[in-house]
Amino acid sequence: MSEPVLGIRNLSVRYETKERTIYALEDVSLNIGRGEIVALVGESGSGKTTAGMSIPRLLPQEAVISSGEVHFQDRDLLQLSDRELRSIRGNDIAVIFQDPVAGLNPVITVEDQVAEMLTSHLSIKKKDAKKRTVDLLAAVGLSDPGHIAKSYPFQLSGGMCQRVMVAIATALDPHLLIADEPTSALDVTIQAQLLAQLEELRRERGTAILLITHDFGVVAQMADRVAVMYGGRIVEHDIPDNLMRSPLHPYTAALLASLPRLDGQHGGLSSIPGTPPELEEPAEHCPFLPRCPKAMSVCREEPPPPLERREDGREVACYNPVWQG
Ligand SMILES: Nc1ncnc2c1ncn2[C@@H]1O[C@H](COP(=O)(O)OP(=O)(O)OP(=O)(O)O)[C@@H](O)[C@H]1O
Ligand SMILES: [Mg+2]
Repeated sequence: MSEPVLGIRNLSVRYETKERTIYALEDVSLNIGRGEIVALVGESGSGKTTAGMSIPRLLPQEAVISSGEVHFQDRDLLQLSDRELRSIRGNDIAVIFQDPVAGLNPVITVEDQVAEMLTSHLSIKKKDAKKRTVDLLAAVGLSDPGHIAKSYPFQLSGGMCQRVMVAIATALDPHLLIADEPTSALDVTIQAQLLAQLEELRRERGTAILLITHDFGVVAQMADRVAVMYGGRIVEHDIPDNLMRSPLHPYTAALLASLPRLDGQHGGLSSIPGTPPELEEPAEHCPFLPRCPKAMSVCREEPPPPLERREDGREVACYNPVWQG
């Protein structure tokens, strides 16, 4: 890996609501280097957004970061004051939210929002910022950018809001971009265009990108490394080629087997039997145990296995991986 931009260490997060506590993230560690794209994949509820939003501390109020460190440019973001953090967000860390509408203020026009971001983070005048906004909107493929600039986010579709957020993120030239399902609201052509823009950001400006996605096609095309999450933990971490060709964790194997295949062989949406864990208490054993075809007695007796690097360099959190290393 090139020089690290982000280092997450042993991060655990829970949500405390009136009704219950959810142990959403347990002991997550991950590095991202300059110019690197690291993908985070896993079923719905596995903790991807929680992991991503912990980094700039943009979690909802009921979230409690119970332990861990988030190193960014020699500082632990979890130790910074809100004020220090605000200057880092936007300036150094940009976020594309999973819910594109929620990422923008509904009662301020697109133009005013983008221009405000530009003037507060770059030294340009308001008038120039407004002009720049229209260029940025055109650059993310929005037709009639002048009209969109004058619109309110609630007047736009989810896909349009997503592209406005991409426009903001790219304009600020961040060191780290957290993109949470950045193409989920977009049709295929625009998705390809947006992925190409992220690729360009990384290549030309060395932006480190955490790319949260459901889509293994996107992983294969974009990511340098991929981390698979299950039940709030990273269960496997590797380069996409290894992980997709010969997954080590039984969950990764099941997830890949459940994907539709173009050649009609294998898989074809055979969903994984059982349901994901409820996360209402800290896991005593591997969270995949109840659904695992390879479970052994050690899996029922020992605490969840930590993510460990094997001799072959691959990382997996499993007592009985698909291939022994
Ligand atoms: N504000 C909240 N209050 C309570 N529980 C929450 C909250 N946000 C998330 N959770 C729970 O935390 C767990 C992890 O959720 P998270 O949103 O991080 O998953 P995800 O992998 O991003 O899922 P998706 O693919 O659906 O976006 C889930 O069990 C979810 O229900
Ligand atoms: Mg999510």
